[in-house]
Amino acid sequence: MRYLDIDGMRVSRIGLGAWQFGSREWGYGDAYARETAPALVHRARELGITMIDTAEAYGPARSERIIRDALASAQPAGRDGLVVATKFMPIAPAGPVVAWQARGSLRRLGVEALDLYYVHWPNPFVSPRRVMQSVRPLVESGRVRRVGVSNHSLAAWQSAERGLRSPVIANQVRFSLESPGPARDLVPWAAANGRLVVAYSPLAQGLLARDDADPVPRGFRARDPRFRAAGDGRLRPLQDALHEVAAAHRATPAQVALAWLLSHPATVAIPGARTLEQLEENAAAADLDLAPEEVARLSDLAEARVPRRP
Ligand SMILES: NC(=O)c1ccc[n+]([C@@H]2O[C@H](COP(=O)([O-])OP(=O)(O)OC[C@H]3O[C@@H](n4cnc5c(N)ncnc54)[C@H](OP(=O)(O)O)[C@@H]3O)[C@@H](O)[C@H]2O)c1
Repeated sequence: MRYLDIDGMRVSRIGLGAWQFGSREWGYGDAYARETAPALVHRARELGITMIDTAEAYGPARSERIIRDALASAQPAGRDGLVVATKFMPIAPAGPVVAWQARGSLRRLGVEALDLYYVHWPNPFVSPRRVMQSVRPLVESGRVRRVGVSNHSLAAWQSAERGLRSPVIANQVRFSLESPGPARDLVPWAAANGRLVVAYSPLAQGLLARDDADPVPRGFRARDPRFRAAGDGRLRPLQDALHEVAAAHRATPAQVALAWLLSHPATVAIPGARTLEQLEENAAAADLDLAPEEVARLSDLAEARVPRRP
């Protein structure tokens, strides 16, 4: 495993996404929530993963409880060095409401302070700066150790910092070969300013790891045409390149997709996992080094799919 040291946190470059834990959207069922999810938390600890990502919205609330219960029986015991990040939805981001939401996450996670507390999405009617004015008292009272934003543009991230009057240490955004946009602006700013970009859906929800022969997944992805038999074909050149680069490294396309993300500075990825094997494969991607020309080839293919902003 490799790590980034940011603001006193030692963050593993591969974390564990826990949206899947206890949530119906993924269609993984009760046995997954009861048995697989806790086993994933235990194995993640053994593999040196130090960042687990959840939210009040996942489950809803079940994901946080599953993590609490799993960590109570995990080895290494305790939470030393672990960053359990959670998020609140700023639907009515007045101070008392946000404090109430934070108390809910504290209770469900069984902790006295949240390691990293994200604003899950910007509120379209309340500026990031105003939202952060409701978060600031949580930091001052010690109930929140570090603050992050999610799904925020660079300007919104910077506005949030002005409201918090201290660094908003991370921005968690959709970032993958299928959504390479953050490489243009968020990553350079984070790298220059000691901040962190946390890449969610780093495998494009499994799309970048799929073979045409794979069955259509259950849950919300069943309605997505990209997950049908041969998909819609638009990712084909990227998928072919992933297979080729993977073969050269005796790795898997998923690992190459993650290694491409980790070729960016100040970036960690938090893939979700359906099985222990996927988790192990993803964790191993932290140690996979791609050649500069492989990174450039993948970046070019990714950018070719996304129109550049003027
Ligand atoms: N802040 C936000 O708004 C936001 C939004 C989305 C996600 N997130 C966070 O980011 C985490 C990850 O994103 P995500 O779950 O949307 O997408 P993802 O990590 O790109 O995809 C996860 C899915 O990909 C498949 N997979 C994982 N590892 C694989 C491997 N090695 N080989 C083949 N398939 C593999 C699994 O599905 P199958 O095996 O069933 O195909 C798994 O459930 C979430 O758990 C959540 O914590 C945050």
